[in-house]
Amino acid sequence: GAAVEVDVSTIAPGEKKVVEWRGKPVWIMRRTPDQLAALEKQEDQLADPESVRTAYPTPEYARNRHRSIKPEILVAVGICTHLGCSPSDKFAPGPQPSLPDDWQGGFLCACHGSTFDVAGRVFKNKPAPDNLEVPPHYYTSDTTVLIG
Ligand code: FES
Repeated sequence: GAAVEVDVSTIAPGEKKVVEWRGKPVWIMRRTPDQLAALEKQEDQLADPESVRTAYPTPEYARNRHRSIKPEILVAVGICTHLGCSPSDKFAPGPQPSLPDDWQGGFLCACHGSTFDVAGRVFKNKPAPDNLEVPPHYYTSDTTVLIG
């Protein structure tokens, strides 16, 4: 499959764009300052906050808190690492069905209840064995990312 080029300048803060790469949905999300700040708050509840697990190896350049090259732009495969369902956006913080009372915003896989933060990092004691996959990607300009 060919690489996919995405213009990230058209993605507003808090919004997510979906493109197809090698038959998979790839999410490109621009996180807000609040969403980035929330990433620090629950690291003790994450299964692999440093992204060192290897089921879906995280590229070196994304092995950081925000799991991305540019802190605000997440690039991740939108497929649960458990059995392949598509997690839903649950960006609003706070108590809601199937989520803990101290929810800070992220993604919920409704199939078996795995939860992920807005960096795609899976919470502890969930069926998903790894964080969401970060596909190989790089920036060809300040606003253009090439996936693949
Ligand atoms: Fe996502 Fe099972 S497929 S939790």
